[in-house]
Amino acid sequence: MAQTRFTVNGEDRAVETDPSTPLLWVIREELKLTGTKFGCGIAQCGACTVHLDGTPVRSCSTPLAAAEGAEVTTIEGVASEDGTRHKVQAAWIEHQVPQCGYCQSGQIMSAVALLRDNPNPTDEDIDTAMRGNICRCGAYGRIRAAIKSAASA
Ligand code: FES
Ligand code: FES
Repeated sequence: MAQTRFTVNGEDRAVETDPSTPLLWVIREELKLTGTKFGCGIAQCGACTVHLDGTPVRSCSTPLAAAEGAEVTTIEGVASEDGTRHKVQAAWIEHQVPQCGYCQSGQIMSAVALLRDNPNPTDEDIDTAMRGNICRCGAYGRIRAAIKSAASA
């Protein structure tokens, strides 16, 4: 089977897996990066959000083939190499955002992309950018507050 080559959190990786396999399975089962979660499996909840060349994607519904030659970033790659937390991660702790935590990797990946593209988002910008990330615990108020904190950090 042909190899698929890509980088994950800055490291070169190559896998021999059916290119139609969801990227999420490769990330979790082959690369053992289990911070990215499986929720709905149909691109509706955002728990599986990773960045593909900087763009947030639903890895449950993105085939491995889409990652060929691309840069994949998962929650494990958000902090700096020296371990310094991303300002979004720091704000998440400051605001004690997670309840059960299951959705939070995806929430953070979407928030990181939002603030990179829009460093000073309005409430409406936040709601629009985060709309695809469902939180069954209803932590939306703390998520918004943490994004605002990170924006002003
Ligand atoms: S698990 Fe991918 S969007 Fe829900
Ligand atoms: S913190 Fe529980 S689903 Fe979001």
